[in-house]
Amino acid sequence: MSAFLELFSSVPRQGPGLAKDVAWAVAQAGAEVASRVCDAGCGTGSDTEALLAAMPEAQVMACDKDATFLEAAQTRLNGPPRVRVGPGDLAALNDLPEAPFDFIWCAGAIYFLGTVKGLRDFRKALKAGGAVAFSAPVYFKSGASAGARAFWMDVPVPTQGELRAEVAEAGYELIADRPLSNAAWSALYTPLKAEIARRRGEGASEEMEGVMAAMEQEMALWSRVKLETGYQLVVARAK
Ligand SMILES: C[S@@+](CC[C@H](N)C(=O)[O-])C[C@H]1O[C@@H](n2cnc3c(N)ncnc32)[C@H](O)[C@@H]1O
Repeated sequence: MSAFLELFSSVPRQGPGLAKDVAWAVAQAGAEVASRVCDAGCGTGSDTEALLAAMPEAQVMACDKDATFLEAAQTRLNGPPRVRVGPGDLAALNDLPEAPFDFIWCAGAIYFLGTVKGLRDFRKALKAGGAVAFSAPVYFKSGASAGARAFWMDVPVPTQGELRAEVAEAGYELIADRPLSNAAWSALYTPLKAEIARRRGEGASEEMEGVMAAMEQEMALWSRVKLETGYQLVVARAK
């Protein structure tokens, strides 16, 4: 297993977010009564319990492409009969036996496909009138600084307006959107800092030390650029 996967499978979340973000998105979509739900790119299942709580009637399929994360999610979610954890590709959610879904939740993962392609792929796995909620990187204003661009490793990132245009281009109606809060980032970074300190105390491998140092740089950079970039949480319905 790579040091990256080892480190990230030992913390509660792999991207920013809070249970109350899940609840907000579900309420915006009017999805409290959903029966079929997908947590797409679930990682270690950070949001799956919040999805179960927000949608008391729902069967939740939590899928990811990574076996290490799925193992951690399975251990964490062992118990509730309303969840199945298993492999699944974001680009082919329609192949899952639980599809089509009333609601697809995708925290910090759609950008692996590109938002327009990802939303078009999700549409094939949605019931008529179904909704999606996803979080994705954005710049809060145009003309991002070198630091903000470096935070995303110079991968192209849209402004909030450009992300809204991508949602429309993919054939979705925007229901609501808002940036993730600093508390959502703390939910990712605070346990990560503690895990890094714990592993250093025990003596980490050279590879692990490299990954941990890179994460410390990312966290330091985030505190400098958080006013100009972050994640946008988007709730939308297929037209
Ligand atoms: C930044 S993590 C977010 C995990 C979790 N949703 C969270 O917010 O803590 C992105 C996740 O997307 C998964 N992923 C990336 N590409 C994928 C694909 N094509 N199919 C399924 N999962 C994918 C990764 O394995 C990883 O677990």
